[in-house]
Amino acid sequence: MSEQKSDFGLMLNEEMYGKLYQQSINEPTIFWAEQAERFITWYQSWHTVSDSDFNQGKVNWFNGAKLNACYNCVDRHLPQYANRIAILWEGDNSQRRQAITYQMLYERVCRFANSLKSLGVAKGDSVCLYMPMIPDAVVAMLACARIGAVHTVVFGGFSPHALAERLQNAKCKVVITADEGVRAHKAIPLKKNVDEALTRVKVRKVIVIKNTGHSVPMQQQRDVWYHTLVRNQEFNCEPEAMDAEDPLFILYTSGSTGKPKGLVHTTGGYLLYAAITFRYVFDYKEQDIYWCTADIGWITGHSYGVYGPLANHATMVMYEGVITSPPNIAWEIIDRYNVSVFYTAPTAIRALMAFGDEPLNSTKRNSLRLLGTVGEPINPEAWQWYHDKVGFGRCWIVDTWWQTETGGIMIVPFAGIGKPKPGAACKPFFGIKPRVVDAQGNDVLPQQTGFLTITQSWPGQARTIYGNHERFLKGYFGQYGGLYFTGDGAYQDSNGDYWITGRVDDVINVAGHRLGTAEIESALVKHQAVAEAAVIGVPHPVKGESVYAFVSLVAGKQWSPKLIPELQQMVTDSIGKLAMPEQIEYVNKLPKTRSGKIMRRLLRNVVTGEFDKIGDISTLAEPEVLDQLKAAHAKGKIQQGGSK
Ligand code: WT7
Repeated sequence: MSEQKSDFGLMLNEEMYGKLYQQSINEPTIFWAEQAERFITWYQSWHTVSDSDFNQGKVNWFNGAKLNACYNCVDRHLPQYANRIAILWEGDNSQRRQAITYQMLYERVCRFANSLKSLGVAKGDSVCLYMPMIPDAVVAMLACARIGAVHTVVFGGFSPHALAERLQNAKCKVVITADEGVRAHKAIPLKKNVDEALTRVKVRKVIVIKNTGHSVPMQQQRDVWYHTLVRNQEFNCEPEAMDAEDPLFILYTSGSTGKPKGLVHTTGGYLLYAAITFRYVFDYKEQDIYWCTADIGWITGHSYGVYGPLANHATMVMYEGVITSPPNIAWEIIDRYNVSVFYTAPTAIRALMAFGDEPLNSTKRNSLRLLGTVGEPINPEAWQWYHDKVGFGRCWIVDTWWQTETGGIMIVPFAGIGKPKPGAACKPFFGIKPRVVDAQGNDVLPQQTGFLTITQSWPGQARTIYGNHERFLKGYFGQYGGLYFTGDGAYQDSNGDYWITGRVDDVINVAGHRLGTAEIESALVKHQAVAEAAVIGVPHPVKGESVYAFVSLVAGKQWSPKLIPELQQMVTDSIGKLAMPEQIEYVNKLPKTRSGKIMRRLLRNVVTGEFDKIGDISTLAEPEVLDQLKAAHAKGKIQQGGSK
């Protein structure tokens, strides 16, 4: 590394990392007990640090301890940091701005918490947030945590149908939403979507925050304006003492089969893991201004847009809009607030890169010192541009690998350790012991790709899938006995650094969003003309992958390109625009194994033209189906369509 970089006085160096890592692995209970004392303020200590056992899929941490997550993110900072800014918020059009101190945050959270209580929300109740990126979203999450309600945030890009599914699954009593959201100058009809979702499932109350001021119909018994509700609420609200293992939130994500799964994260272990990873991975110092661009609807928004930074009394930027619109907005915001640590997704970097250097040249970005990425593998070109152009070659790049299930960052090239390796996830975080195994669960050699598993428990991991513990046990612990299976492929290089090769299951990653191919397929087969559907991810220059669907039709139906927009709409209605197939191809038959399983791997090779990579087809039932597909693609005579 250049000398300039070591001038920052980074928290870790190779030796310190090595020492702490060894301790964390050899004596995990001692290590985590120490960190728990350091990062969290507890009302009551634990009787057992952990008696987790992966052979039984059993995970627990700090048993018997009591704490409140909101207290840890807000109240305890007040004696020293009451006037420190917690949130620097900027609206989509940059016209509206707010600077919220920890004292102000405290008052807003207390009043929100009291508002929830006034509607009868109590400890253990589920509350759904379907919100834009406004400070009230953070306030609402913390207010839930304060009174022991379990929040479940649903990303505003999900359709009413997808929202209803989650509301029903999580048994939500209350929905918190806004009249509208705004992204890239476009209004998102949040309240309207909630109304539509609620034609399918019932909730007791809907709290509506006035954001754009657009008029929305209110249902008298059910809907209440937040500004009316909060009017007479007290500025103080006693935080509820929660068990370390009490759920803090449920967050839905896609799996390889069936419906989305609601991962349950706990109050103690999750909060500790979010706090400690934030501190070490972002090398967080008091003078930093930190900006994570993720929406609160994703785990990144939870761990590194709310809980991690606030538990560390950080000052963070929050932006309502999309960081690619207008093209220089990200860099302007960095200059405006002197952002020093910036965390975003490779897909955003690629989109920003496509604008050329002009937006960069009109801004300074002198404040930046550390740049993070998350959500998908970063390609070397994007890494280089981020490093050379955005950060002037001065900033460390931390490419963080983790998952909704892991609660926080798991494998990362720590700032201050080793030489940069574009695209490598590098080193495990403290307490994380990865193992790359083959299909039988045996270790593979360095340089050989295998399945990425984790061998021992860490505090931040999800405890269950809400309402379906069986699926949790089977999906994560049932494949390689005694190991947590990530669903990703990986290998270790000759230095022992980890490289992530991507999902090995039927999950695809589109613009950093995790999508289950099965979910998209079920949306497509709802169309009366469709017999079968197979969905794959194909390489896309900006999104990383894009959704590509194959459909076959029921007997007697005629294929027509007119079906394409209809099918796209089916997916948009069922999941959201984020899952809409960009391309749809009609096929007579899909390639299947003799046991009837669609061979998506072959479809992918056909679409990308990598016929030589098709490999073993001994299980393919009708080889002529593949031959037909290859012939069609070789000639470029495929019937496909949609927006590219
Ligand atoms: C999947 C998890 C973690 C928050 C955002 C995504 C992929 C994530 C990386 C990375 C390569 C990555 C994996 C993982 N992934 N980060 N730095 N390099 N792949 O959370 O929606 O639960 O998705 O995203 O495939 O399993 P998620």
